[in-house]
Amino acid sequence: MRVRPFATCDLPGMYRVCLLTGDAGTDATPVYRDPDLLGHVYAAPYPVADPTLTWVVTDDEGVAGYVVGTADSQAFARWQEAAWWPALRERYPRRPAVPGYRDHELLGTVHDGARYDPAVTDRYPAHLHIDLLPRAQGRGLGRTLIETLAGALRERGVPGLHLGVAEQNAGAIAFYDRVGFRQVEAHAWGRTLGMDLRAAA
Ligand SMILES: CC(C)(COP(=O)(O)OP(=O)(O)OC[C@H]1O[C@@H](n2cnc3c(N)ncnc32)[C@H](O)[C@@H]1OP(=O)(O)O)[C@@H](O)C(=O)NCCC(=O)NCCS
Repeated sequence: MRVRPFATCDLPGMYRVCLLTGDAGTDATPVYRDPDLLGHVYAAPYPVADPTLTWVVTDDEGVAGYVVGTADSQAFARWQEAAWWPALRERYPRRPAVPGYRDHELLGTVHDGARYDPAVTDRYPAHLHIDLLPRAQGRGLGRTLIETLAGALRERGVPGLHLGVAEQNAGAIAFYDRVGFRQVEAHAWGRTLGMDLRAAA
């Protein structure tokens, strides 16, 4: 397995990884009627907005993981309003909830847009999503992806990096702690974690 910078041909594999890890780290296929929605919201917009802040893990079977990031979450939200959400809003009308499925939650994000709390982004302007398939986990690749992204952000002078993690994703919470993230806020759904990029690497 190797880590390399994003190429456009990685997008379909990234959508698959996003779905297969999208239920608090486990396979979300059973809870989304549309298999693309998670990738539309949490994976693809990042490399489309800034392909230099995405890295992928690949092996003979294809894309096995990725980290996606944006250096400036508020600028990213403005870019999404201008360039990302309009086509998705047309493609996906709001739909009522269907018992057993969560598509309506993501359709809410598509239509309402993503918002980033200025109290968080003032200190930690960048944010990320990271997902590895089970065959890529536990080999140090998650740490490599985080360190690669953090290094690129430091080079740009970005002072901090944040992310959101679901409370039930205990493995990811333990991972983020090991690689240097600290809690910034607690929520009903989980935690916002942050990394100060001005501190020594
Ligand atoms: C969470 C995830 C990114 C971690 O990546 P990984 O490659 O498996 O982690 P690494 O092998 O790089 O581990 C780095 C450190 O975290 C620790 N760690 C990783 N996963 C852990 C777990 N489940 N429980 C406890 N510690 C863990 C490792 O022991 C290691 O510690 P060390 O370097 O101090 O020895 C990966 O497992 C994953 O993608 N999971 C599914 C999707 C997901 O949950 N994404 C996050 C959504 S917020």
